[in-house]
Amino acid sequence: EYRGVIFDLDGVLTDTAHYHYLAWKKLAESVGASFDEAFNEQLKGVDRMGSLNLILAASGKDFSATDKLTLADEKNLHYQSLIAQLSPADLLPGAAESLQQIRAAGLKTALASVSKNAQAVIERLGIAEQFDVVVDAAKIKNSKPDPEIFLTAAAGLGLTADECFGVEDSIAGIRAIKAARMFALGIGSPAVLTEADVVIAGLHHFSLQDYLK
Ligand code: G6P
Ligand code: MG
Repeated sequence: EYRGVIFDLDGVLTDTAHYHYLAWKKLAESVGASFDEAFNEQLKGVDRMGSLNLILAASGKDFSATDKLTLADEKNLHYQSLIAQLSPADLLPGAAESLQQIRAAGLKTALASVSKNAQAVIERLGIAEQFDVVVDAAKIKNSKPDPEIFLTAAAGLGLTADECFGVEDSIAGIRAIKAARMFALGIGSPAVLTEADVVIAGLHHFSLQDYLK
């Protein structure tokens, strides 16, 4: 029986995945790396330096450690300018209702995002109080697809992995959930999220009854 649901943030509860995309695209262009939506799918759920390294590898050029830190900061400043005006109106359709549905059914909720901006984003969205546990980059060593963030969230809820399921929009995130041996609910396209157990287009299609075991 499920007793907890662990949510990714960017691209699941709000469309900040699009802002990460815009900021990475601008950075990729500045270093002469080709960048498209398919490549972006590989970056989703991957932490900041991990994403940067993938883009720089695609540029075919060498960058010093100092250059990398400067580029990572540039991307983050651009991203932060894009999310500066975020408000509860930026919750994706069904996001608030899904959280309410889960909590009304007596299940616990956790957030599992490798973004260092996660806490600021959930505060601006007005949903910080809706999570029993928030696990972000500060609390883990390994980025998705490592299962660490989902296992840490389950432990924080006081639950075992098989008492939880995860909700994700990224390939790396679905892999992390499956590596944690949890049921994986994908948000997006079944053609992209091939390893998810079930895929829905968005949380406006979320129905807790359908996933309960
Ligand atoms: C999430 C997003 C990624 C982003 C990462 C790091 O996993 O899906 O696109 O690169 O967080 O975010 P940060 O805000 O720390 O740069
Ligand atoms: Mg995501």
